[in-house]
Amino acid sequence: MSDTEPQTASGKVLWHFTMSLDGFVAGPEHAMDWLTGFTVRPGLIDEYVTTTGAILGGRSGWDAINASRPYGGAWQGPIFVLTHHPEDAAPAAGVTFLNCGAAEAMRIALAAAEGKNLEVFSPSIGRQLLELGLIDEIDLHVVPVLLGDGIRLYDNPGGVPIRLHQVGQTDPIAAVNVRYRPVRISSPA
Ligand SMILES: NC(=O)c1ccc[n+]([C@@H]2O[C@H](COP(=O)([O-])OP(=O)(O)OC[C@H]3O[C@@H](n4cnc5c(N)ncnc54)[C@H](OP(=O)(O)O)[C@@H]3O)[C@@H](O)[C@H]2O)c1
Repeated sequence: MSDTEPQTASGKVLWHFTMSLDGFVAGPEHAMDWLTGFTVRPGLIDEYVTTTGAILGGRSGWDAINASRPYGGAWQGPIFVLTHHPEDAAPAAGVTFLNCGAAEAMRIALAAAEGKNLEVFSPSIGRQLLELGLIDEIDLHVVPVLLGDGIRLYDNPGGVPIRLHQVGQTDPIAAVNVRYRPVRISSPA
């Protein structure tokens, strides 16, 4: 099966998420308990730990993860959190709360990444940067689950379609064919 090439560190702005097949990156109330029970290609997490220089997120996501570090603590770079009210955020080591436009936040975080990639861990900030033409890659790990509710990668009612090119493919506009079977819930004995 075709897969992405290993990620490279070159000062890119990545909108990076693990996403359900139906396009959610978090469940209702920021639930993340669905993010288990999948396999990933060997070394995938290390790829991002190694190539990521900084992370930019939004206040809701930050508050929801209770100040835990991304990648299970394996990554130790600077984190920037965008909020309109930084004054009521609890200070955390390595975390800078910013109150500015998405583009300015991206410039600050990208400078801190020192030539490595900036990961945008926020659907709302990613959408703002996409509209400004400031997203280099949308880097997704699509996992075999349907959520039906929650926070979408891209939520923009009334917006126009955003055309994409698939990276690393001979035909970048080819449809990607996938086929799944529902896992049967075993009946009680
Ligand atoms: N599946 C994955 O791989 C993955 C990875 C990372 C995160 N996540 C999840 O993604 C979800 C993100 O939640 P979300 O999209 O609802 O929220 P979010 O983007 O994390 O936060 C939204 C908040 O960010 C602040 N913000 C956004 N743009 C701003 C701007 N231009 N200026 C100032 N502040 C700005 C505002 O905070 P204020 O209200 O404070 O002003 C806004 O309410 C979380 O559940 C997180 O756990 C999933």
